[in-house]
Amino acid sequence: MTALREAGILGTGSYAPERILSNLDLEKLVETNDEWIVSRTGMRERRLVAPDQATSDIACEAASRAIADSGVKALEIDLIIVATVTPDHQVPSTACILQARLGLVNASAFDINVACTGFVAGLNIARSLIAAGAYNCILVIGAETMSSIVNYKDRGSCILFGDAAGAAIVVPFAGQGKILDIHTGADGTGGMSMVVPAGGSRKPCTLEAVANDEHKLIMKGNEVYKFAVAKFRDLVVEQLARTGYKASDIDLLIPHQVNLRIIESALSRIEIDPARIYINLDRFGNTSAGSVPLALDEARKAGRFQSGSLVSLVAFGAGLTWASTLIRW
Ligand code: COA
Repeated sequence: MTALREAGILGTGSYAPERILSNLDLEKLVETNDEWIVSRTGMRERRLVAPDQATSDIACEAASRAIADSGVKALEIDLIIVATVTPDHQVPSTACILQARLGLVNASAFDINVACTGFVAGLNIARSLIAAGAYNCILVIGAETMSSIVNYKDRGSCILFGDAAGAAIVVPFAGQGKILDIHTGADGTGGMSMVVPAGGSRKPCTLEAVANDEHKLIMKGNEVYKFAVAKFRDLVVEQLARTGYKASDIDLLIPHQVNLRIIESALSRIEIDPARIYINLDRFGNTSAGSVPLALDEARKAGRFQSGSLVSLVAFGAGLTWASTLIRW
């Protein structure tokens, strides 16, 4: 039997649109205030796409930067995986739109719908396909235009989300970014805690559905909060148990940028120095599948980890879904 190949991350890139939506801006939209938002979430501002920007546009920027960073040639890329719940269209996939835009003519392309877990789940798929010898150069993107599905009349959810994209190039391991461990899971019984009711086959997007805001995200905040705290903690504990590392071995933990209170509560009983937890949700909010790759790229380029560092990525979200990855950079 042929030995499975190890996979590594060769380059990263990210993009956040320029337009800023601050807590003060939100005060003008719904009955809320800066103090409430900061104390309950840690968020101060988020980025929103321009009116003419869609998910493929911000994904294209992030992907171009990851390709340039990695040094691979466009024609070497043989698969594009786009993680998003806010595709440009229901059909075709955003991955196919990008394949044409970026001229990646040798690449297969598909989207995955794993919500905030999407980028880490995409990395895990890429790692498995590299291991199996099926592909040699995979572009994994997490990109989200959450502003297209957020209901800006609902103060319980609109304060949380922003738009952003991040990307990585995954190849057979050649000395950088070795993916040591992957884990992905789901619990569909909790699926209705975050739902966009209309726009699919169950309830097409009728005038009535739009009038009732059923084409927008509905979220049971408290249910999701409890799930997120428990699952996040389990993901870290189980990753350490599987790999044999201690929490103190992790040089940087990059969690899904969900909410500062959730992150602090989940990690309160784990022996990890808070300085080793990467947080940028104060500036970007929760950008769903864009969150982890944006943070990964930002942290890497800010020198928050170096060659040889142990970097843990942990994500969870709608579905309900979750995933973790451990990388020896
Ligand atoms: N500004 C001011 N008040 C608000 C508010 C806002 N933006 N949103 C809700 N409130 C009010 C509620 O109406 C409620 O008022 P009441 O007591 O008079 O009924 C009160 O604040 C408490 O509401 P509650 O929902 O219990 O607040 P919370 O502390 O749980 O915080 C969330 C709400 C949404 C911030 C929190 O539940 C959360 O972060 N959940 C996870 C959601 C998430 O991360 N989803 C994505 C996962 S990938």
